[in-house]
Amino acid sequence: MDSIVVRDKTFEIFISADQIADAVADVAKRVNQDYQSENPPLVIVLLNGAFIFASDLCRCFTFECDLQLLRVSSYKGMQSTGKVWVDEAAEPDVHGRDVLIVEDIVDTGNTLAAYLPRLMDQGAKSVKVASLLLKPDALKHSLSIDYVGMEIPSDFVVGYGLDYDGKGRNLPHIYKLKED
Ligand code: IMP
Repeated sequence: MDSIVVRDKTFEIFISADQIADAVADVAKRVNQDYQSENPPLVIVLLNGAFIFASDLCRCFTFECDLQLLRVSSYKGMQSTGKVWVDEAAEPDVHGRDVLIVEDIVDTGNTLAAYLPRLMDQGAKSVKVASLLLKPDALKHSLSIDYVGMEIPSDFVVGYGLDYDGKGRNLPHIYKLKED
C-alpha cells in the first residue's frame, strides 16, 4: 500500500521492508566486526520503538548475545517533550561491561543525551550505539552514533516499531507523514 491512515494522519511509503532488511544487515555486519564472543557486549534495547529492529538485528549477531530490554520515553504524539523518562527499576547492571545500545531512531538526541551519561556514571567500560535511523538535521546534541542504518530528513515516520500515538508499530514498511 502506497499510503495509509494512522489515527488522524495520512502517511506515504518511505522505506520498504526490503530496504529496511538491507540496512539491518549492513548494521549487523559492522557490529559483528567490532564484537566477538570472547568479550560479548551487554546489548540494551530501548523500548518501545526498537523492539522490531532489535529482534531482526540480534538474530544476525555472530557473537554471544547478552540482551536486556529497557523502557525509556521522551516522545508524545509527534514531538519530543525534551523530558526523558527511564525505567530505573529495570536498569541492567552495566558495571565493567561493554554496552551496545539499540535504538530505533535518533531525532533530537534528547533521549541518548540523557541516558548515555548514566551508563558511564554507572561504570560501563564502553558504550556504543546502533540506531536504525538518524535525522541529522534534527539533532540538538553532539552525539556520536556508531552504527546508523539510514540517515533520513526530519519527517515524522511510522512503522517497523515506530509509532504515532501508539499506533503503526506493526507496519512492515516505514511510512512518512504526507504533506497536505
Ligand atoms: P529523540 O530523543 O528526539 O532523539 O527521540 C528518540 C525517540 O523518539 C525515538 O526512540 C522514538 O521513540 C521517538 N521518535 C523520534 N522521531 C520519531 C518519528 O519520526 N516517529 C516515531 N517516533 C519517533
